[in-house]
Parts: sequence; structure tokens; C-alpha cells
Amino acid sequence: MAIKYLKDLDFNGKCALIRVDYNVPYDKSMNITDDTRITATLPTLTHCIEKGAKLVLISHLGRPDGKVVPKMSLKPVALRLSEVLKKDVKFIDSPIGDVVRDAIIAMKSGDVALLENIRFYPEEEKNDPGFGKFLASLGDVYIDDAFACAHRGHASNEAITHYIRECAAGTLLQDEIEYFNKAMLNPAKPTLALIGGVKVSSKIEVLKHIMDRVDYLVIGGAMAFTFLKAKGVPTGKSLVEETHVQTARDIMELAAKKNVEIVLPVDAVVAASLEDGANGKVVPIDQIPADLAGYDVGPASVELFKGIIAKSKTVVWNGPLGAFENGGFDAGTNGTAKAVAESGALSVIGGGDSVSAINRSGYASKMSYISTGGGAFLEMLEGKTLPAIAALDR
Ligand code: 3PG
Repeated sequence: MAIKYLKDLDFNGKCALIRVDYNVPYDKSMNITDDTRITATLPTLTHCIEKGAKLVLISHLGRPDGKVVPKMSLKPVALRLSEVLKKDVKFIDSPIGDVVRDAIIAMKSGDVALLENIRFYPEEEKNDPGFGKFLASLGDVYIDDAFACAHRGHASNEAITHYIRECAAGTLLQDEIEYFNKAMLNPAKPTLALIGGVKVSSKIEVLKHIMDRVDYLVIGGAMAFTFLKAKGVPTGKSLVEETHVQTARDIMELAAKKNVEIVLPVDAVVAASLEDGANGKVVPIDQIPADLAGYDVGPASVELFKGIIAKSKTVVWNGPLGAFENGGFDAGTNGTAKAVAESGALSVIGGGDSVSAINRSGYASKMSYISTGGGAFLEMLEGKTLPAIAALDR
């Protein structure tokens, strides 16, 4: 791909339009509960400021559906950005038009402004060319640093690129692309994919696509029970996607053909319900009682996974291995995270739930790279070309 990066552009005296993904979680009182997506853009913002640009940031928050929804305003984000950037950030809340243009013209080099939620405009999600053209007319250069929404082809990350003179990927997007490529396109072998989560149905394309790229495939999370059922193992009350038992069988056949070793849990932490973690007990995988369900992989599974991790030079991880958010069912994910962190393998983790699980495990800082993307990371694992990244390829 012929994508430009920050180093390829001249920012001096320019107005840089920067698409960021500040779609951050917040509580009922509008307090931001995790600002990773804000801090992750600081290297790009700092670079552009130091090189003499004024910065106009564009983001969405939530899914307001093309309407103004006050509780999805980006104002609290502008305040948090000011704190972490240690710089005043002007919040431009006027509807996009001449008032916004005038506010931008009045800015000086080094100034930073954040526009109001771009999804308040229906044209955004329609990838409306006129809206993209208008956005492009607000600046001189366009930087995309919003990996987490790169799987959406919208006006502020797709249409805009057709009308701006120059565009490039920011540091965050560059890191995302480079780490992903290191792990999946050109990996140090052997390569291991750890895939967890609840449903096989949401990972079918991922499982099929990575089959040509990995040597080992460890399957955990509730989705492992659909595979176990396919192998004829009694799964008690564990969540099984009956309509995908055959899919699991097909995936195991494909793995055998492609010489990929599929590794399933050998024990499980079972309980009567998700709320019953305190009474969870470990049983061998073929002895799950008929009235109980598995909510985590057990310690023997973690030992087994550790052995595979120790043999691997590259680990890609998507999806938690157990119901980590409920007390009593996080040991499988935590123990596996420890093994990955200590293995010395290149480790790339992505997907919303997996990232919170790794953050909770306490081993996040020991991983090689943690993606800021949820759906975007998943689509990369499915082998798809993300529209916003393709748009930067000139
Ligand atoms: C995300 O949080 O995954 C991105 O911001 C994309 O959000 P969306 O799924 O609402 O498009």
C-alpha cells in the first residue's frame, strides 16, 4: 500500500484536519471512564503541533443516528484532551458551516480545536461526498489516526480523502497497521492465535482466515463449548450454539487439512450460574455435570496453553477465555495473559472485550501491542481491507 505517514508531510503553517476516534466509554454523569483512545493520539497531535500546524480534530461519540443528542456531546472529551495534552483545546460546538470556518481561520499555529460529534450530521454515516468535500475545505492536510472506526467508510474518514490535497496516517494508525502486519502478514513462526469470546458465529470468518497464517489455534471462552459439543463431549448447561456445531466441525476439518493444531480446554470452571462464581469448581472437560455450565477454562487448560505459548514466537489474541467480568471466572484469562506477557513472543491483542480483560489482568504493559480497535481489529483478522485505510492509499 502506498500510504503516507506524518514524516512525509509538511505541516508548517498548515491547518491539519485530524480524524481521531474519541468514542470513549463514560458513566451516567458523563465522566470518561477510560481515556486510552485519547492518550493514544498524543504522539500524532504533538508531532503536528511541533511542526507548526494548527489542529482541527474530528471524532464521533456513540451512535446518535444523525441527530443532535446532547448526552453524546464531545465537550467532556475536549476537557479531558486539554488535561492530557496540557494545552487549551477549543471546543467548536456550532453546526458545521461558515461559523466553524471562521473559528478555524481565527486559530493560530499550535492551536487545537475539537469539532462537535460528527455523527450529529446524517451525511457523515452516508459517506456523503458533498459533506466530505466541505470538511476537506476546512484544512490543508488530512491525517487519519482513528483506527477504531477504520472499518466504517464515512464522510470524515473516506469521502474527505478524495477532496483534500494531501493525506496520511497518524502514528496510532501507523502502529496499528505495522503491528498487525508483523503478527499476521509476516510473522515470526510458530504463530499462535488465542481466540475466545462467547459466540462461534461472530468469529467464523476470523477462524477461516487465520487458518492460513497460524500454526496453533487455542480456542477458549464460551465458544469452546460449541467445538467440544462437535467432538461429542457432554457440555452440561454450557452455552452451545446448536446451529453452529457443524460450523465448528468444518473448522476443525479445515485445520486438519491446513496442518493447524487446534487446542481446546481440558478442564473448566463450572457453576450453576454466572452469578455463582464463588461456588465455581474445576472439573475435567468431559465431566461437566448436566445441571452446571462452564464459565472459564480451568488450571490444567492454562498449563496446556502455557506450553503452546512457550513454543510460539508470535501470539495474536482476540476474545477473553472466560467470563472475566464476573467474580470467580477470570483466572483462565489472567493466567494465560501472564504466560503471554512472560513468553517473550511478539504479542498483539485486539477486540473490545479482550482489551478490557487484559487491562484487568494487570499484564497490559507487558504486551507488545494492544489495539485500540474492537470491530476494526476483528475485520482485519477476517482479512478485510478497511475502507478508511484503503482511502489513504494513493
Ligand atoms: C468503536 O468503538 O468500535 C468505533 O468507534 C466504531 O464505533 P461504531 O461501531 O459505532 O461505528
